[in-house]
Amino acid sequence: MSNRNDFPEGFLWGAATASFQIEGATTEGGRGPSIWDTFAKTPGKVLGGDTGDPADDHYHRYADDVALMSQLNLGAYRFSIAWPRIIPEGTGAVNQEGIDFYDRLVDTLLAAGIQPWATLYHWDLPQPLEDAGGWPHRDTAYRFRDYAQVVADALGDRVSNWMTVNEPWCSAFLGYQNGHHAPGHKDDAAALAAAHHLLLGHGLATEAIRSTGRPARVGLAHNQAVIRPHGPSAADARAARRADGVRNRIFTDPLLKGRYPADVIEDLAHISDFSFLVDGDLEITSAPMDFLGINYYTPEFVAASAKGLDPALVSGEGGAWLGAEPEEVHVSQGLPVTHMGWEIDPTGMYDVIMRLAGESGGIDLYVTENGCAFEDTVTEDGEVNDTERIAYYEGHLRAAKEAVEAGAPLRGYFAWSLLDNFEWAWGYSRRFGLVHVDYETQKRTVKDSGHWYAELAKTGSFPQR
Ligand code: FCB
Repeated sequence: MSNRNDFPEGFLWGAATASFQIEGATTEGGRGPSIWDTFAKTPGKVLGGDTGDPADDHYHRYADDVALMSQLNLGAYRFSIAWPRIIPEGTGAVNQEGIDFYDRLVDTLLAAGIQPWATLYHWDLPQPLEDAGGWPHRDTAYRFRDYAQVVADALGDRVSNWMTVNEPWCSAFLGYQNGHHAPGHKDDAAALAAAHHLLLGHGLATEAIRSTGRPARVGLAHNQAVIRPHGPSAADARAARRADGVRNRIFTDPLLKGRYPADVIEDLAHISDFSFLVDGDLEITSAPMDFLGINYYTPEFVAASAKGLDPALVSGEGGAWLGAEPEEVHVSQGLPVTHMGWEIDPTGMYDVIMRLAGESGGIDLYVTENGCAFEDTVTEDGEVNDTERIAYYEGHLRAAKEAVEAGAPLRGYFAWSLLDNFEWAWGYSRRFGLVHVDYETQKRTVKDSGHWYAELAKTGSFPQR
């Protein structure tokens, strides 16, 4: 047996969650309502009418959950802070009880030797800010800065790794363009303004965190899409270029290059004149990041038209993404899928890491989310035999290892997710955890994948199976 581990010394092993998905206790501790409370209570928006309660009741059970993390040998825990717990109205008065909760969580993590990695915005915008215009409204970015300042002042003595925003694409486009997520609007121009203000908010929050003068590393968690043309035609390549523009470069260019891509501005000219862009904004959005978080689940294949394709492979209608031409579609490759219907393709993981390694100028990269939903059940012996999830993790982590060996500055990996939780519009029907949660009793059961991951985290090498 060789002594060399599969992953380098110091590679960080973590797991991720988000406040609204696990905390529950949505009306306790002085928390104000968020857009996800409102959305979930709107009939027809979330499968089964599920809401943010009880979730995993993590608000009360956080100490047990940190003990579980220790059992899984985690070196780091990525969690998000609920803005409506800290500033219930979105602006103005600070709720000390909210700060106290995260204080306790952070102290418990540190006592267990687990690094806290905090995300400031994982989609739970205070409802009063949405009522005032939400992310399409420029002021929201400044309110986000104020909130970031409060949190950095309170926790910055113990938290040194920060992610400002989680997946700005989802917030802007699922929230304001196709309405699948809160607040459920369908307004193309508003979605573009929201995307810009999320980036602006990211830059302003970065300044706020750094203004504390404490040692802090700041980044964001970006769900860069792996867009591939379905076929070799020039038309499919063009569709892929357009989809990549509005899905990826509209975020990475302002973040990494301080500009919007000219082709994207042109592609979207019929939707927006980009007048939301104010002089000086791009200096703020492109403040150098200390690291970039990558969230990856599945690749996306696109075609210029559904004509001549097997209809079983065409998903959805033409005009499949913002700014798409009327015939452009998403196509599946007929690969095995997870319970989300997402195709399993670890080569996408390799590609996304290598691409961002090339584009981000050598800053540290972390996979801040990667994982899969399957229909888990607890056996009579109290086990969850989720072999498909182990295979998913192993495949994707082997791709990550290849990327490291090819020179990518990938420094760590966070599994999505620590616990089964509220999977947004799918409610509690989709289970992503390394740990199974019985929502009736709140009993936690470490799945086989959790045991597998614990061994990997301990040794830095793939467990023998
Ligand atoms: C990502 C979200 C995360 C989780 C996973 C499955 O888009 O950031 O909260 O829902 O998908």
